[in-house]
Amino acid sequence: EDEAGQAYFDKIIAEDSRIEPADWMPEKYRKTLVRQMSQHAHSEIIGMQPEANWITRAPSLKRKAILMAKVQDEAGHGLYLYSATETLGTPRDVLNQQLLEGKAKYSSIFNYPANSWADMGAIGWLVDGAAIANQVPLCRASYGPYGRAMVRICKEESFHQRQGFEILLELSNGTPAQKQMAQDAVNRFYAPALMMFGPTDTDSPNSQQSMAWNIKRFSNDELRSRFVGMIQEQVKVLGLTLPDDKIRYNEETGMWEHGELDWDEFHEVLAGRGPCNAQRMERRREAHENGAWVREAAAAYAEKKAQKAQV
Ligand code: 3HC
Repeated sequence: EDEAGQAYFDKIIAEDSRIEPADWMPEKYRKTLVRQMSQHAHSEIIGMQPEANWITRAPSLKRKAILMAKVQDEAGHGLYLYSATETLGTPRDVLNQQLLEGKAKYSSIFNYPANSWADMGAIGWLVDGAAIANQVPLCRASYGPYGRAMVRICKEESFHQRQGFEILLELSNGTPAQKQMAQDAVNRFYAPALMMFGPTDTDSPNSQQSMAWNIKRFSNDELRSRFVGMIQEQVKVLGLTLPDDKIRYNEETGMWEHGELDWDEFHEVLAGRGPCNAQRMERRREAHENGAWVREAAAAYAEKKAQKAQV
């Protein structure tokens, strides 16, 4: 069965077609998908925190409504991705437990603090912008449920990116203090946003296999370069600057080059020693505790309904 399965799998990948949940797949393919998709889902859930902290402090009702809609979208993206991950056989309460126990990774970017309202702009423009650059190719991932989940997520991300850009544009055209606040937020989020794309290709143990299986379509450095090319143009419209004087387009390689990134900082954040790792995990555990009554009520209701059905 495995031989026939492997032959079918190899054919599907060679044709750049889709693997579906019921198809045979190599255990390593399943495992790397659960790894990446669960981390993606965890990132969406933890990613709600920096922005949620600013909902009550938004400067206008319009901004508050937009920010609430964005945070709700991220929760939905998390649920979408946990559902897609469950099709590979790992239930979401197992995945959630891994997160609560600090055993699961989530995107490094969410371990940085959101210090000012302008950070909501920098997060929307840079973090969601980077997420789009990384996620549009994932719409074509070889695993059906993942690729399909990305289509809707990318549509909502473009709203997130645009509202962030607009916040920065408004501040940049505001008072000198507002412009400075916007510039300060861009200065703080620029490098961490570039590190969302992962380590450099030579330090990326998963890339080669993920690309061979059409999960990852472009390497970490390629997507990072594409993203730098986009924001170095957009930042001019904002009337702001990027905190990197090494940005240049390399005609030979066709890549956008940028200043050195602090990979020691990256590994510290991944090891749980970033600026906000502890508080993000503490908040997640607290929210899980506070939500226990909802889970119990839902379970009791389901139980009653099942008993009624048997009568
Ligand atoms: N944060 C945390 N961990 C990271 C990371 C980051 N920015 N970049 C890499 N890593 C981890 C990898 O998970 C891997 O560890 P693991 O083997 O234990 O999983 C290790 O560092 C080496 O990295 P690789 O390049 O070998 O790993 P991948 O091939 O998985 O590439 C990735 C990393 C590009 C992040 C890829 O996993 C990916 O595309 N993930 C899905 C997209 C995603 O998660 N985007 C960020 C989420 S932000 C978001 O979506 C919220 C938005 O709505 C604001």
